[in-house]
Amino acid sequence: MDKLLAWVDARFPLTATYKAHLSEYFAPKNFNFWYYFGSLALLVLVIQILSGIFLTMHYKPDAELAFSSVEYIMRDVPWGWLIRYIHSTGASAFFLVVYLHMYRGLIYGSYRGPRELIWIFGVLIYLVLMGEAFFGYLLPWGQMSYWGAQVIVNLFSSVPFIGEDLSVWIRGDFVVSDATLNRFFAFHVIAFPLVLLGLVAVHLVALHEVGSNNPDGVEIKQNKDPVTHIPVDGIPFHPYYTVKDILGVVVFLIVFSAIVFFAPEMGGYFLEANNFIPADPLKTPPHIAPVWYFTPYYAVLRAIPPMFGSQFPGVAAMGVAVLIFFALPWLDKSPVKSIRYRGPKFKIALALFIVAFIGLGWLGIQPVTPLYTWMARILTAVYFGFFFLMPWYTKNDTHKPEPQRVTDK
Ligand code: HEM
Repeated sequence: MDKLLAWVDARFPLTATYKAHLSEYFAPKNFNFWYYFGSLALLVLVIQILSGIFLTMHYKPDAELAFSSVEYIMRDVPWGWLIRYIHSTGASAFFLVVYLHMYRGLIYGSYRGPRELIWIFGVLIYLVLMGEAFFGYLLPWGQMSYWGAQVIVNLFSSVPFIGEDLSVWIRGDFVVSDATLNRFFAFHVIAFPLVLLGLVAVHLVALHEVGSNNPDGVEIKQNKDPVTHIPVDGIPFHPYYTVKDILGVVVFLIVFSAIVFFAPEMGGYFLEANNFIPADPLKTPPHIAPVWYFTPYYAVLRAIPPMFGSQFPGVAAMGVAVLIFFALPWLDKSPVKSIRYRGPKFKIALALFIVAFIGLGWLGIQPVTPLYTWMARILTAVYFGFFFLMPWYTKNDTHKPEPQRVTDK
């Protein structure tokens, strides 16, 4: 074995890579619960790619055949129902895990320097993930697939001057049709997954360049042992965090399997009843709502009233609501990173933001009523307030001094 390894190492940096990124990569020793979700996001990515490959073996990207090919997978392909439920549950699990992963970034200030690029790659991942989920949702060619895509692509037609042409260009037709299904299939199975994999790779390269943040916000690389040059608050990623992450994986898989086997539709949140009806271009469902992970933005869209008969202000607000995450590293002026050492202003702002995000998510599924519209407007203002007022409330907040060493016992 040693000879074989030496032979490989002379031709490929196997041992060097293993050391640099696992056994001699030092991570802060105080990672907690919130640090499970990065590795879990990787796990879900792998689950989605593997289950997706097997779905593609039986799925037909053709408007005449798509719906029945999915039913065929569910009823006739051996274990097809399992593969499909793993993939549909995986989509929701992906967003849940990524939202918790982003929340960790918010509470510990992991988006702050020197981790701005990790964060920017992360927001790009989030954008691509949204596109990936949107394209995938059209593929079963059910009523919600069809009308959801119709509503979302129509939003582009509100863009001034080029809107109409833009939406025809995206659909490849004047309505959502076979041409749309074909291109969405191409995006979903190859173009976007490739971009996603590339972005995850650079996300991790950037992470290993600067090293992880931690619940104390202490930069462990600034305090190295003078003899060994190892960060005094660091422990080797392998075996310590590989073992910790395996615990996360096991717990995740238990919950994930329970959903796949016992509640794959999750009361309509993961798979909607309307989507078990084949797409009918002549029959609009009375109530069209996106899947839960998009509903906060859908609520922002509906909260902004049309101007001069154009929906563009709502569409623009929705776009800004997502893109504003890019600016976060530069909006936060606090001298400390972690919520543990921040003052009340940031804590209140973050709590309000979470209430607004979840509240908007709930409102995005409700039918439009005057009361709900006003609630959505207030929560939209809170949502944007979190970002736009951040330079002010983080600069004027009190804070406790960050410790020199991590405080984990
Ligand atoms: C496919 C999706 C993603 C994967 C596979 C992924 C993977 C990872 C992994 C493995 C880590 C290191 C472990 C950890 O800190 O939990 C990490 C760290 C990080 N990720 Fe992600 N990530 C994803 C999406 C995102 C998104 C959407 C954002 C933000 C918008 C983000 C922001 C960050 C930040 C700031 C860190 C450093 C955290 C720290 O050191 O405290 N990631 N990511």
